[in-house]
Amino acid sequence: MEQIVILDFGSQYTQVIARRIRECNVYSTILRFDTPAAEIAALKPKGLILSGGPSSVYASDAPLPDKAIFKLGIPVLGICYGVQILAQFLGGKVEKGEKREYGKGTLTVADSECALFQGLPKELQVWNSHGDKLTRLPKDFVVVGTTENSNYAAIEHSKKRYFGIQFHPEVVHSPRGKEILANFVHGVCGCGREWTMRNYVEQATEEIRRQVGSDRVILGLSGGVDSSVAAALIHRAIGDQLTCIFVNNGLLRAREAEVVQEVFGRNFKIRLQYEDATKLFLQKLKGVTDPERKRKVIGKAFVDVFQAATKRAGKAKFLAQGTLYPDVIESVPIAGNPAAMIKSHHNVGGLPKNMKFTLLEPLRQLFKDEVRQLGVELGLPKEIVQRQPFPGPGLAVRCLGAITGSKLEILRKSDAIVVEEMKAADLYYKTWQTFAVLLPVRSVGVQGDERTYDFTLAIRAVESQDGMTADWVKVPYDLLEKISTRITNEVRGINRVVLDITSKPPGTIEWE
Ligand code: XMP
Repeated sequence: MEQIVILDFGSQYTQVIARRIRECNVYSTILRFDTPAAEIAALKPKGLILSGGPSSVYASDAPLPDKAIFKLGIPVLGICYGVQILAQFLGGKVEKGEKREYGKGTLTVADSECALFQGLPKELQVWNSHGDKLTRLPKDFVVVGTTENSNYAAIEHSKKRYFGIQFHPEVVHSPRGKEILANFVHGVCGCGREWTMRNYVEQATEEIRRQVGSDRVILGLSGGVDSSVAAALIHRAIGDQLTCIFVNNGLLRAREAEVVQEVFGRNFKIRLQYEDATKLFLQKLKGVTDPERKRKVIGKAFVDVFQAATKRAGKAKFLAQGTLYPDVIESVPIAGNPAAMIKSHHNVGGLPKNMKFTLLEPLRQLFKDEVRQLGVELGLPKEIVQRQPFPGPGLAVRCLGAITGSKLEILRKSDAIVVEEMKAADLYYKTWQTFAVLLPVRSVGVQGDERTYDFTLAIRAVESQDGMTADWVKVPYDLLEKISTRITNEVRGINRVVLDITSKPPGTIEWE
């Protein structure tokens, strides 16, 4: 398949570049900055993008590419630090900037013939973030764009089809940046529009059949987007050779187990092994209040239940997992690259090594939004495809203090009201997460003529791009009022509802 290779020099935006290229229906792969040119050539890319990065080409530990990448004979687009690499390797000059230049700027296109700017106005809003500055053009390059602060904001070597831009076209603050990237991949590199989820279904189905042959596959279905889409895709490829194991740990939200059984069992007719472990989990969690301990108990119980379930499912060679592309990309360990430091602290551990399966990971090439599109393509309902992230330990992280069956019931009912009302107001799918948290705090209330001494429920609604940072959502007052009234009227055990108005940081999304 036609593809563009992106060399990652440690920019926090590298994955965003890859996504923008894929939004142009062109497949893109991220490789480490020092990947040997021969390895890149083997992929037969139609073009190369050099990402930005936090370093200076002058730093002693500056990430540098294999110089043979300039012998590949394919178009190159250097972005930000990528321009400095072009300069460094092709005879230009970079000078240390006094301070990093951040923020909005206006690009004036100096050469309207330049392939990058076809169909775009002469002035463009762009987003800058760079430290060092280009002060002399590399050999045979010409200026094709300038900004207030740079005479070399966009440069081109038309014969070799090399381009350099000092701003970031991939971020939303460069509103027409995507068109610049589209011009590069379609106009300069000549890529078509092969990368669509419809094509991917065909290609992935064949690949799964080839890999699995006549063997059997087991998949742990959580009901989350990734495992659900993986299940639907693998089922399409190999039908009954796939068995999905769904563990009900008793920490699911209202109707969750039913929806999974309805969608996968009844609609898709997938072989679904339903494991009701609700009692076991409750028993193991009895009296446990420490959040870390809760997670450990749940993790261990899950492995035990899942292992026993796989034995009952019969012999299988493969274990399918919904691993996504961001989990696969090796981040560049450069100081200042937040991507390198952000490693999910969640879901470490996983399944024990002694489970002897070959992994089947049909979503390894995809970003989350692509997985959602794939789900739609496969006919999964919105309820699953647009599902909000839900932690593995489930309601245990939203039921503070000791967990009991009756507390979980209170939480489930309240949470269902929050979700229902947010959906009715058309806000649910617009937020990253919206849920209820049951606090281990009782206070005095009055309901009817009676004095009550009941629990407090917190509403948490956040906006986020990736869960690493988050803002609390300003849910309209009248909606909050409706939610609060319904909960105190309909859920016995709650006499007070509060709203969490903390962002992350300093708070976390879950309360634990
Ligand atoms: P925090 O609470 O750390 O959560 O701000 C960040 C994001 O991660 C989700 N989360 C989890 N996801 N297993 C998961 O798969 C977990 O154990 C877990 N804990 C938190 C959380 O819902 C939020 O989206």
